[in-house]
Amino acid sequence: TPPGFARYADRLWAEALPLDELAERFGTPCYVYSRAAIEERWALYRSALGVAGDVCYAVKANGNLALLQLLARHGAGFDIVSGGELERVLHAGGDAARVVFSGVGKGTDEIRRALQAGIRCFNVESAAELERIASVAATENTPAPVALRVNPDVNPETHPYIATGLAQSKFGIALEEAEALYLQAANDPRLEVRGIACHIGSQLLSVAPLTEAAERLAALARRLQEQGISLDHIDAGGGLGVHYIDEQPPTPAEHIEAISAPLRDLGVSVLVEPGRAIVAEAGILLTRIEYLKHNGGKEFAIVDAGMNDYLRPALYDAAHTLEAVTPSEAELRPVDVVGPVCESADTFARDCTLPAAAGGLLAIRSAGAYGAVMASQYNARPRPPEVLVDGTQAHLIRRRETIDELMSGESLLPEG
Ligand code: LLP
Repeated sequence: TPPGFARYADRLWAEALPLDELAERFGTPCYVYSRAAIEERWALYRSALGVAGDVCYAVKANGNLALLQLLARHGAGFDIVSGGELERVLHAGGDAARVVFSGVGKGTDEIRRALQAGIRCFNVESAAELERIASVAATENTPAPVALRVNPDVNPETHPYIATGLAQSKFGIALEEAEALYLQAANDPRLEVRGIACHIGSQLLSVAPLTEAAERLAALARRLQEQGISLDHIDAGGGLGVHYIDEQPPTPAEHIEAISAPLRDLGVSVLVEPGRAIVAEAGILLTRIEYLKHNGGKEFAIVDAGMNDYLRPALYDAAHTLEAVTPSEAELRPVDVVGPVCESADTFARDCTLPAAAGGLLAIRSAGAYGAVMASQYNARPRPPEVLVDGTQAHLIRRRETIDELMSGESLLPEG
């Protein structure tokens, strides 16, 4: 079995620690990650890509400093989408020269800071943004390294909220427009053309759309090279899916092979930006059942985690495997697992077969990506802690937020 979370002696464990012990120690709800599981996924990508390429971990999937530090120690590059993510990467010891900056709405200050830090490349999303980057580069007296994020118009066959490579999405620059913009950039002394970027969507369960996108990038790269525009790299984005319920995702090696094959003869290095595939399965959300109740012929297990702590089920109707952590005398039966937040969408699973009992612990599996980073304080709920398990050691890598912190940025009105 892969490292990470496994059942042994009737319990669910994180590496060498039983999750019920972690719940006692850190309270619930609580995110728990496995260091070995993250490192295993990282190593699979790293070895599949080979030395010429760079794996730029998508920080948005989980930007906890300790996780970024762990990956930085293994030589990771990083894909960022904001000035905040850049500061996180630098604080965690990441190498600015391996950072690519994605996102459709980069602010002037963010561009300036990234340029000063010496990032590897801006993945530019529009002609207007290219002009803004060029003007910041001029005032900073530093040519800006750029790639255009093109929109290859392929259907990634995933949830519409996370499909980003279709013609009618806000992301990227249409392939037909990209060529003229490349010629303009190549003739602009404020800019240095470095590559081509793309990202077609997330939670992809087949590599065919990734290959199709890579073929279109390769065709564009050839046309550019014929016009004397040399390219340092092609950034094929992220997007590999993971196991939530019964998905059978391709492996990192299959992902890399699918995108590399069309790019092989171009003489460029290959970058990828995986996020979910590195951290999702390496994390769980640990939660305790507070109450059981019946309504309208249904049974509900009300847990202490809410949609504010873990948003994916509410936002995308995402299904996750839920598992009882410890053995229970309770009868196996279908229950709806819901949180305490005042919204019907605050539901983690419907008709989930569990031995539900008040006080019982549940693990929401594959919650390491787009979990803690999407947590909010809605309903004035402090955000949960994050714990990284390393063998028999548990490191608290983010403590539970306090009620005082919830209110810390606010002010009361003056008298009267
Ligand atoms: N690169 C770019 C430019 C991206 O927009 C994304 C994700 C990634 C890389 C990483 O994609 P990944 O390897 O993680 O699939 N919150 C949603 C997912 C949003 C993904 C947005 N972009 C969810 O929880 O499913």
